[in-house]
Amino acid sequence: MHPDGERVLLEEEEIRKRVRELGEQIAGDYAGKELLAVGILKGAMIFLADLVRFISVPVFFDFMAVSSYGKSTGPSGAVRILKDLERDIEGCHVLVVEDIVDTGLTLSYLVGNLQSRRPASLKVCTLLDKPARRRVDVVVDYRGFVVPDRFVVGYGLDYNECYRNLPYVMVLRPAVYKGGNLNV
Ligand code: IMP
Repeated sequence: MHPDGERVLLEEEEIRKRVRELGEQIAGDYAGKELLAVGILKGAMIFLADLVRFISVPVFFDFMAVSSYGKSTGPSGAVRILKDLERDIEGCHVLVVEDIVDTGLTLSYLVGNLQSRRPASLKVCTLLDKPARRRVDVVVDYRGFVVPDRFVVGYGLDYNECYRNLPYVMVLRPAVYKGGNLNV
């Protein structure tokens, strides 16, 4: 394990097995349809890349990047779109692919925003769900793993842009972010 890790939470094999299950479940649910997978950059990049290889129906990709403010200051925390979709999603079956749902503020904003573009359907798939810190109710249609209220990195998730390339998910040692402005 990386020396900044406290413990490995999800091993590479465990992730692969679950991602395959999710992909197969999604393929079954969208049988006979085309799917537009919307990856939320940058964290969902690795999950999306692995997930789509287990989805046997036609899948198109697009990406959005968002930044959140004021996570620690209340549910008014605004979300800003840094990169928008390249295509019009009206009439498309859209699946939002996220790395982790924490407070739910980002997802809640994204779902509202995408819903207003009148897709044929809109569902959400997240690799990780951290329900302990939820501030707004969000519907998650596909969930890889429920994780405890700890800051986790790896398999796309970062701290200060580090650790995204780790093939497993680990709990970050608090000493690494002590003194930083991480809201954990
Ligand atoms: P939310 O709006 O609070 O649900 O935040 C979701 C975003 O916060 C995720 O897409 C991540 O970028 C980030 N995030 C929340 N918890 C973690 C974590 O444990 N590790 C890494 N990033 C996290």
